[in-house]
Amino acid sequence: MSAIEIKESPKQVFIDTYGCQMNILDSELVQEQLQALGYQFTSIAADADVVLLNTCSVRQLAEQKVWSQLGRLAIEKRENNNDLVVGVLGCMAEREGAELVKRMPHIDVLCGPSELDKLPGLLQNAMQNRQRQVALSGHTSRRSATLEKAEDGVEALDLSRSFSATRSSKQAYVRITRGCNKFCTYCVVPYTRGPEVHRPPLAIVQEVRSLVEQGVLEVTLLGQTVNHYVFQDGGKTTSFADLLAMIHDQVPDLQRLRFLTSYPRDFDDATLDVMAASPRMCKYLHIPAQSGSNEMLRKMNRGYTVETYFGLIERARMRMPDIRFAGDIIVGFPGETDADHEATRLLIQKVRYKSCYIFKYSPRSGTVADRRFVDDVPDDVKKARNRDLLDLQNGIALEIHSAMIGQEIDVIVEGFSPLRVHRPQPGEVQLGWEKRSAESTSHVRLMGRTQGDEIIAFEGSGDLVGKLVTVKVTEATQLSMRGQMVP
Ligand code: 5AD
Ligand code: SF4
Repeated sequence: MSAIEIKESPKQVFIDTYGCQMNILDSELVQEQLQALGYQFTSIAADADVVLLNTCSVRQLAEQKVWSQLGRLAIEKRENNNDLVVGVLGCMAEREGAELVKRMPHIDVLCGPSELDKLPGLLQNAMQNRQRQVALSGHTSRRSATLEKAEDGVEALDLSRSFSATRSSKQAYVRITRGCNKFCTYCVVPYTRGPEVHRPPLAIVQEVRSLVEQGVLEVTLLGQTVNHYVFQDGGKTTSFADLLAMIHDQVPDLQRLRFLTSYPRDFDDATLDVMAASPRMCKYLHIPAQSGSNEMLRKMNRGYTVETYFGLIERARMRMPDIRFAGDIIVGFPGETDADHEATRLLIQKVRYKSCYIFKYSPRSGTVADRRFVDDVPDDVKKARNRDLLDLQNGIALEIHSAMIGQEIDVIVEGFSPLRVHRPQPGEVQLGWEKRSAESTSHVRLMGRTQGDEIIAFEGSGDLVGKLVTVKVTEATQLSMRGQMVP
């Protein structure tokens, strides 16, 4: 990264993040990269000199939110702040680049998710020259790649992570793989994030170690198909199972290690064995099935059957009887019948997810499903199926939580509990860990998370935020549990 000097008073940046955990991590890295160059960040959009929208294209709703935000920014720029710099980052920039600037000519910077290391230069040029700056990849390759050169641009973004001694969050995301090769027929990700690229294992272990030295307790490894991780270095191959074992064993002060999102095909026993044998690895798998109907799975190009999926659940439960599963389901995929829907109900009942995100199919232009199939399930049917599965899932979650009453569990305290615990959906920005410091050390309502990703609220001293404590479960609801600290 070239050193760019900022001479005037520091520019204020506001960044708004939509979508998945990968975007949350990208925004964090962008923020650190810009802060190192002297930019300051504000949480008030009206105070900003630069507004960045880190966008998501996975469903139409996510894109609509960005279109509306851009509409508001056009007015702001025209009426109040001519010099405002507006940047669109992430998947929507990559996918809708031309359309975006046609409809929203006030956009100054467009930067795809694989080009984020170029953002400082783009912003600098946009401010100096008042000319639109564009960095998009136009991903076309289907090949997967192994990263061997650290000078690769996006690797530079991950490596640029600053390890601040004042890091407030005790949880961190660490990317191990970028992109996706699966081309599920409904999904835009392979087009926006490009083919799989795996990061070198030593760079990953070093990043985890540095985060732990800064006080991080829990690391979540990220990849779109995280269990497909593999790294070839000369004659040596590092598999996903090898990588997990390396991190677990080489960073003994890391309290919790988890990973997302797993792909149901090619999930090997070696990975399950490492999970079972490693005490600080969370017994938790986010492993989307998408549907319980083999016909739908075939049309989605998922590459596995319901039977293979159940086989994996069995293999995991055999080794880790208390393992928790989380899932994603798409309802109303083209041609989905009542019988297909019933098959998905059966899948949910059999797997007994601790949480399951249910999405209505949203046709995305450029995808195979959009070209090949008619979006023929009426919206009211999609809504009814969505509601039906949510009700089913909520009942299961309540049963899982209720069965934990009386148990004493390890909890990492994330922050202060709101009155109602709200579980963010993947399409929503997660708030992450409570950033505000514990001003009061008197007894307050705290919120923590178990290694199985359950949420529990309990009374405790404010200075416990960021610590690992033991809590006895006393009450259960669909979304969370309540408990009492064990002295
Ligand atoms: N419509 C609805 N849901 C989708 N997802 C991905 N693409 C679409 C789409 N076109 C869901 C899948 C995926 C999650 C991140 O988003 O369930 O696992
Ligand atoms: Fe999209 Fe399928 Fe890749 Fe997941 S595995 S990111 S759903 S193409």
